Amino acid sequence: CGIFAVIGSREVSSLLIDGLRKLEYRGYDSAGIATIDNLNNDQIGQLNVTKAKGKLINLSNLIKKKPPKGHVGIAHTRWATHGKPNERNAHPHLDFSGQIAVVQNGIIENYRDLSNSLKLKGIKLTSETDTEIIPHLIGLEIEHYLANGLSPNEQTLLIAVQKVLTLLEGTYSIAVIWSKAPNALVVARGQAPLVLGFGEGEFFCASDTPALTGFTRTFLPLRDHESALLTPLGIELYDDDGKRQHRAPSIIEGAEFFADKRNFRHFMLKEIYEQPETAQQWIDRFLPMDLPSENPIAMPVSKSILENIEQIQILACGTSRHAGMVGAYLLEQFAGVPTKVYFASEFRYAPPPLSPHTLTIGVSQSGETADTLAALRMEKERRDSTQDPNFSFHQLGITNRVDSSFGRELENVIDIGSGIEIGVAATKTFLGQMLSFYGLTILFASHRQKRKSQEILDLSNDLRLIPKQLTNLIKKHDSLSKEIAHLFVETKDVIFLGRGINYPIALEGALKLKEISYIHAQGYPAGELKHGPIALLDQHVPVVSIAVPGVVYEKVLSNSQEAKARDARLIGVSTHRSESEMFDELFTIPKVSEWVSPLLTVVPLQLFSYHIAAHKGLDVDQPRNLAKSVTVE
Ligand code: G6P
Repeated sequence: CGIFAVIGSREVSSLLIDGLRKLEYRGYDSAGIATIDNLNNDQIGQLNVTKAKGKLINLSNLIKKKPPKGHVGIAHTRWATHGKPNERNAHPHLDFSGQIAVVQNGIIENYRDLSNSLKLKGIKLTSETDTEIIPHLIGLEIEHYLANGLSPNEQTLLIAVQKVLTLLEGTYSIAVIWSKAPNALVVARGQAPLVLGFGEGEFFCASDTPALTGFTRTFLPLRDHESALLTPLGIELYDDDGKRQHRAPSIIEGAEFFADKRNFRHFMLKEIYEQPETAQQWIDRFLPMDLPSENPIAMPVSKSILENIEQIQILACGTSRHAGMVGAYLLEQFAGVPTKVYFASEFRYAPPPLSPHTLTIGVSQSGETADTLAALRMEKERRDSTQDPNFSFHQLGITNRVDSSFGRELENVIDIGSGIEIGVAATKTFLGQMLSFYGLTILFASHRQKRKSQEILDLSNDLRLIPKQLTNLIKKHDSLSKEIAHLFVETKDVIFLGRGINYPIALEGALKLKEISYIHAQGYPAGELKHGPIALLDQHVPVVSIAVPGVVYEKVLSNSQEAKARDARLIGVSTHRSESEMFDELFTIPKVSEWVSPLLTVVPLQLFSYHIAAHKGLDVDQPRNLAKSVTVE
């Protein structure tokens, strides 16, 4: 979910929509805003709430028709956790008096207990969300303070919110307004990200910095359990004891966040086309020609990590986990470092026994995925609690967003620098993540002298050729995928096969297809086909087989033959024209070493999924039920 809020001297309704537009990647199943119309500069304003189910455009059309007035407002774009994505469950939620409005990101874990206590007090909940309890609780606090003689003003709102924060458990952030304090906006962070923005005569809060661009570049991230009072005059920051805090804001670096689609029909296609640039920039930064042979990669990894680490564990979700799997293959097979990959969401509750001298790598394009952050925090805590230096927490983050929680919380971060990615289905950031693992592999292999310098040189040179190869590949396979997309419109299931370093690419190909075309797809290591999945095959279940010359080439070809013998339509991703007879459709890639092949084999699979989804007329950039940044566990 995404929060955006503003207070100042301008009308805010269109600003709220602009801010939400830049947060839509965090969820888009409903949206809403609340403003306070400060009628005649009175002490009491009027709260206006507008909500709409579905994409932001629905809300934005409503607002355009009848813009609610007000110089202060809160806004929300939702990714449903508790309660169906309908208008009733959309934020903002109001208290029993209809005067307090709240938007929330995250989950209130003890909301059942709290809602029971509200019901006992006779308060009727009108939605199925965990959020609605917050305005009611604030309302009760305010009632209590007013009954004890406090005035209805911003300080009363602030202390009521701060009191309610002590009752909430979970990972959340909130923004609150009250019609009786029309010059105040109170925000708070309880582990879910929230940043403050300092404009000229106006102040903002947002779930993420991109929402601030266009308004201000000056920002300050809230720390866990901090709250803030925003007025048209400035921002006051408080810790969880209610003590004033003073911290200097930072400046958002880099280009303006909001990219346009240029001439592409979808952001996803544009981002697929940007992959040669991602690769070239990565090479220019990390693998320039003039580096000394004993230190062939310019990556920020400390000598102590390179020398002392005995094993690596990689924590990630979704596509990032697939990049981690390619990384694990390289780190083990090329650099000789034992490496395991975990689903971050599983690791947190079932970690392996502690092992000494372990490097933990978190991978996340957004740098905000709650599962990954929670797993990294848990690992830090359990390692810190041993107080044995052998078990120290050595950590490294790989992300496309250094200004995210990843960037703030992890001491070593590799910025993959792919540029902002709007399409929910990751493409160029996946490539950037994989490239970072190639860099780490070269670093470990050369520091530990696991490979002859010629082998390291060969790998580096192969990587330098990737941008050009990608450019050619994308053009060629864009047209081929477009041509064949119509053949798969009625398809219900697809099997993806790969082995060795290309097994994660089979998983990624299947995930891409599921995410954007809603076709059921599974990736398997090709050798496993005969141990079960083969039972599914017939002429209606196409098989995509990644067969690249190398250690498992012949094996993958035989596994593909087994599929063909069961009448499956066979789609190949391979280097060899000579194999073309075996495949019904063939995506050829240049003849490269197997080590670098995943950087190329993934591309036709991205385009294949893209064109099937586009042919079906689906919303490629914002597929149903997904979000680009999932900030709940
Ligand atoms: C969400 C997205 C996936 C993504 C995953 C991990 O579920 O829909 O496409 O791979 O999060 O995201 P991260 O930002 O951590 O890479």
